[in-house]
Amino acid sequence: MCPSEPFRPHVHFTPRALWMNDPNGLVYAAGEWHLFYQFNPVSDVPGNISWGHAVSPDLVRWTELTGEGNPAIPYDGDTELIFSGSAVVDQDNTSGLGTPENPPMVAIYTSANATKQAQSLAFSLDNGRSWTKYEGNPVLDEEQKEFRDPKVQWHTPTRRWLMAVALADDRKVRFYSSPDLKEWTQLSEFGPMGAVEGQYECPDLFPLPVDGDLERLKWVLVVNVNPGGLQGGSSAQYFVGDFDGERFVADDQDPKAVRWLDYGKDYYAAVSWVGAPDGKRYMIGWMSNWQYAAKTPTSPWRNAMSVPRVMSLRSRPDGGVDLLQEPVPALASTLHRTAEPIMTAATLNVSAGGAAVVANGCDGAFLLEVTVSLVDGATGATVLVRAAEDGSSGTGIVWDSEKGELAVDRRKSGLVDFSADFPGVHGAPLPYASLADGKLRLTVLVDEGSVEVFADGGRVAITDIVFPDKERKAVVLRAGGAGGAEGERGSVVFADVRVV
Ligand code: FRU
Repeated sequence: MCPSEPFRPHVHFTPRALWMNDPNGLVYAAGEWHLFYQFNPVSDVPGNISWGHAVSPDLVRWTELTGEGNPAIPYDGDTELIFSGSAVVDQDNTSGLGTPENPPMVAIYTSANATKQAQSLAFSLDNGRSWTKYEGNPVLDEEQKEFRDPKVQWHTPTRRWLMAVALADDRKVRFYSSPDLKEWTQLSEFGPMGAVEGQYECPDLFPLPVDGDLERLKWVLVVNVNPGGLQGGSSAQYFVGDFDGERFVADDQDPKAVRWLDYGKDYYAAVSWVGAPDGKRYMIGWMSNWQYAAKTPTSPWRNAMSVPRVMSLRSRPDGGVDLLQEPVPALASTLHRTAEPIMTAATLNVSAGGAAVVANGCDGAFLLEVTVSLVDGATGATVLVRAAEDGSSGTGIVWDSEKGELAVDRRKSGLVDFSADFPGVHGAPLPYASLADGKLRLTVLVDEGSVEVFADGGRVAITDIVFPDKERKAVVLRAGGAGGAEGERGSVVFADVRVV
């Protein structure tokens, strides 16, 4: 299946046309996953920010409900831009914006203009299809210029609404509570901590069981930062700790310790869905970076969302916990439906200096799984996707066991010169000792415009957008890491290679 528009993804959400940034209003309601997003309803560059809207039965297949000139929640000239925020189903009609028989869906967003940012409400009585701005807006106004991105959820133990919202310039997340979504009382503040070079944006707070044990809940606070991200520009970081209904306290009290949610350059404004019927936590990020988001070479739309990810917590031997992520299960079945498996369970032994081409074809999106072992002194391996058959170009997923690093190298991925900030190598620490039985298990989702790498059980995620030429169709498995094959010893076993 070859798409007619260059770089139009198959299994990632893009608007049919125009500009998109952050995911907003992530809520599950009445059998639908809602994805709202920052949307310019008149142009493909940032501006006139409003909310767009799409729905999905499975988090993979999306139907866009809005479009040009027709956003879900519209901006109002220069007086009100509809910045990022969240949405809830007000089941008990605490807000009085619906009725007990028809509880409202309520969006909590930032009303922004040049001088002020404050939090406002809009509500829908028809599953998010039409929206009314609340006449009492704003509902939370602290006379601040950089005060945005409210994430609201129902906090069951205290039986009230809980908001996390960013004081962007102060590098703080503030928590508020409310009985009715209209009156908000400040509870506490978190920060500055972690990566603080840029502004704090789009906070999120959610509980997860450690190792699946529901008796051992930890809270994860996600804080997106821009600029000053790991690879330059925008990045998402997280903290693990406890939340007692009022205050979040990070386990690691070192104010400089940073944990990145994703080590690539294109996973930003990451936030999670509320109300998942299976009790799981699903996250999605905007697959771009403010350094070049307005210059990416696509048309008539600009920018895509990541694949939604299932989040979990795994304990470490040292007593800490790691946040893990993997693509939603519906992804694999969707790919199965749209394409014949290219390869199911091959094992390839490649000696130093060698390479194997395992797939070639215009395959749209594909998921590649492989277990990599280094044999007889080999120190690295490379998986090239969207590559030339001779391996001279493509996007490299490069494992360097001596450096203890896994990286995505997109310097030869295709179109890279639209921004000086685009080409680069984006590495994640991956100590050899951390790998169970010394084997690196990789899951790689490749779509027309992106590569998402998951390793070490999902502890490491690397998300990068790419703009490859159509001729680059091969997957090349190479013995040897960053420096190419020269001087490499031993061989590399690529086992259980599956491409679907
Ligand atoms: C993050 C962000 C948010 C803001 C929105 C504006 O990318 O800057 O802080 O609400 O985008 O579109």
